[in-house]
Amino acid sequence: MAGLDGFISSWLVATAEMDKVGVNHLEHGGRIDDYSAQTGKEAGDILDCSANIHPLGPPASVMEAIERSLSGIRHYPDPRHRQVKKALAQRFQIEPESVLCGNGATECMELLVRWLRPSRCVILDPAFGEYEAIAQRYDRPILRLSLFDGSRFALPLSALDQALCPGDLLFLNHPHNPSGSSWPVAEWLPFAQAWAQTGVHVIIDESFVDFLPQADAQSALRCATLSPNLYVVRSATKMFSIPGLRFGFAVGMPRVLGELEEQRDPWSVNHLAQCAAAAAYLDGSFAELTADWLSRAQARQKETWAAHPAWTVFPTSVNFFLVRFASCEQSLQIQDGLRREAIFLRSCGNFLGLSDAYARIALRTEDENERVWSAVTRIASAGDVCRE
Ligand SMILES: Cc1ncc(COP(=O)(O)O)c(C=O)c1O
Repeated sequence: MAGLDGFISSWLVATAEMDKVGVNHLEHGGRIDDYSAQTGKEAGDILDCSANIHPLGPPASVMEAIERSLSGIRHYPDPRHRQVKKALAQRFQIEPESVLCGNGATECMELLVRWLRPSRCVILDPAFGEYEAIAQRYDRPILRLSLFDGSRFALPLSALDQALCPGDLLFLNHPHNPSGSSWPVAEWLPFAQAWAQTGVHVIIDESFVDFLPQADAQSALRCATLSPNLYVVRSATKMFSIPGLRFGFAVGMPRVLGELEEQRDPWSVNHLAQCAAAAAYLDGSFAELTADWLSRAQARQKETWAAHPAWTVFPTSVNFFLVRFASCEQSLQIQDGLRREAIFLRSCGNFLGLSDAYARIALRTEDENERVWSAVTRIASAGDVCRE
């Protein structure tokens, strides 16, 4: 226990240090208007690898559904989300009552925290910044543990086992952003279920699970319909390339979700988002296209990035990867050079446990990936020559 206390307190000191130097944990990737202002270029001329959005979307089925539904915007959206819940129920073989729809996965997580009022929010760093933001909005104390063991990202199951208390809420992000790691569900789900049984609320954020080859087998979604205190949250924004439209959903026990529905803004999920998501989740051909594109992009990423002798590239199972350049200086110099070519990576200086030496890079189309790779290697070699 003393070991764990030491570990947690040194992590808290690190957090406080980052706050002192004014690190903004909540500045996300994908800030296309900022990038446009910085480069003087239109959004369409910017290569944005800072947000992990599927480069081949939105699927045609989604665009058609939006066009078909446009005239419906003169009415209020369905506050009961019937059409999209029916589609999700069909896709995942669950009851529509097990689903809570939201204006993105982020709204679902916020609704859960607001409703559950946990005694603490437990965050595994480095983490998606909105976990912390949500906890702060509801004045919940935060306990932070680290996922990074120095060479790889691993779930700290025994540290969690010791640290979690009934009434806590754990954000467990699988597959993990920003590392791209995933862990076999059979290894950690029994722990999550056991914690949930003792009264710990567990939110499994599966916003990137659709990118895994065995997505359904690696998801805890069906389990969440039966287990008290266990919730799965999914996002449509990355997989179906609709971050500007926004749709996400949570899955849990119908009783809790039904009570929560009574307390929310009835119209936060707009009509077009509901229609688009209903079409998206029933579009099996887009999943096939994704598997084909992503396996080729990952194979090429292994031949290029992962083979670089001076950089650490963490194994990824999804549509983005994390790289540690040789130094903060080199990383910033590369990103600065890329900016001049209107290419943006996600600098990781505001992720707790990482630094400016790390960047997260979204996998894009074949041509775009080649463009990024050749620009990065060219800028890095020019930097090496300058230092010699
Ligand atoms: C791990 C994780 N969860 C959730 C989200 C947000 O999803 P949404 O756009 O559906 O709110 C993000 C966005 O980057 C994310 O990285």
